[in-house]
Amino acid sequence: MDGNGRWATARGLPVAEGHREGARALRRTVEAAIEFGIDSLAVYAFSTENWARPDDEVESIMELMDRTIERELPDLAKQGVRTRFFGRRDRVPDELRGKIERLETETAHLDRLNLWIAFDYGGRAELVEAVRTILDEGVRPQDMSEADLAARLYAPDLPDPDLVIRTSGEQRLSNFLLWQSAYSELVFDDTLWPDFGEEQLRVALDEYTRRGRRFGAR
Ligand code: FPP
Repeated sequence: MDGNGRWATARGLPVAEGHREGARALRRTVEAAIEFGIDSLAVYAFSTENWARPDDEVESIMELMDRTIERELPDLAKQGVRTRFFGRRDRVPDELRGKIERLETETAHLDRLNLWIAFDYGGRAELVEAVRTILDEGVRPQDMSEADLAARLYAPDLPDPDLVIRTSGEQRLSNFLLWQSAYSELVFDDTLWPDFGEEQLRVALDEYTRRGRRFGAR
């Protein structure tokens, strides 16, 4: 969900305002994804590197997350959205962690759309943690398979994405789903995230349907 800062700066607004508008775009996009019949949608909300941003910006994102869990996500739950978070949990403020866990429990029975929110997430950190777990468990190197590693990622139930959309004109993965996106189609869109919505999602899906996927085969 890239481009919140630039969206705000272009309007002479504080960056926090860009994130707020970004949260509105998230809601729009989830509702559009439901309409399009998408089963699973993962969004990158806060990276392991984002802690290095100014304190007031980090605080504004934590507050926004809190408010989104209190207000927006329960509304989406009424539309059948199951929400889960993936990433580190040990650095998230205690109160927010409690709300995250409650929302996950309360929406666990819903299945119209699975929303996955990457929060304090980094693809490299995820792989290191998975390897650490495997070593701790004493798995023998010769027994180690791809499935063993995949089972120890933050969210083993998260399907590998068919399509990864990067907004705001940047053309890189920036540490998002490094393992899971091995065969994903990538679509880059110049739209700044706060302006993203149904139309941009439709364009990305149209582009996806034109791609031929071979997964390394002929
Ligand atoms: C990247 O834009 C965006 C973020 C670091 C935060 C994303 C957070 C939201 C969209 C808030 C809503 C999300 C939830 C789940 C409540 P940027 O600030 O890096 O933009 P820039 O590259 O233009 O500076």
